[in-house]
Amino acid sequence: MSVWALLVAAGAGERLGADRPKAFANLGGRPLLAESIERLDRSDWIDAIVVAAPPGWEEPVILLAEELIASKVVAAVPGGSTRAESVQAALAEVPADAVVVLVHDAARPLLDDAVIERVLGPLTEGADGVVPVLGVSDTIKRVRDGVVEATVDRGELVAAQTPQAFPADTLRRALAGDLEGATDCASLVERAGGRVRVVEGDPRLLKVTTRADLELVESWL
Ligand code: C5P
Repeated sequence: MSVWALLVAAGAGERLGADRPKAFANLGGRPLLAESIERLDRSDWIDAIVVAAPPGWEEPVILLAEELIASKVVAAVPGGSTRAESVQAALAEVPADAVVVLVHDAARPLLDDAVIERVLGPLTEGADGVVPVLGVSDTIKRVRDGVVEATVDRGELVAAQTPQAFPADTLRRALAGDLEGATDCASLVERAGGRVRVVEGDPRLLKVTTRADLELVESWL
């Protein structure tokens, strides 16, 4: 079984307020992206890696991979203007005989091998996609114009993380459809009628959005 990892790293990361794209923000003395490249490269579950880089940053990504001796990185392509378009650009590099594609946000640096193993498992039982999730502990309310419309039953809600795993052909079909408003790949597979399973996520897979997130993740390194 050949498993390809797409690492989407093309976000601008404006809320970090850095002078460079988020993937190159400093995390423990290295670019944030180094953490997930290294972890994917060292994973026995992963055969090859394609990075969707911030446009114009493809070469620094390749140099970083070389520095990390991450020999599974086969390409760095310019990302698109949305996450889904970045996935599409990276997916174009995946050969026809790939069996499984795993899509991961570079903004979630602390990728544990156990999560990779968990998301790959249900694919052998016929799932069209697998998503790591965390339960929601806060009370969730739907709000419009500063007024609460409803309090939602949190027992039914989860927060979706990455890495998300898919049979390669299923992801290709989902990405060929309408990408409007998609904030993850699983939602595109769901839209196409696919059955997406969930597995336990990992609180340390926090998505770095603000400087405080970066400091928290750094403290966990
Ligand atoms: O912005 P968002 O939180 O959706 O970003 C999630 C991941 O998608 C990040 O790793 C970011 O680099 C990536 N992304 C991308 N191309 C974009 C927007 C986001 O690769 N145009």
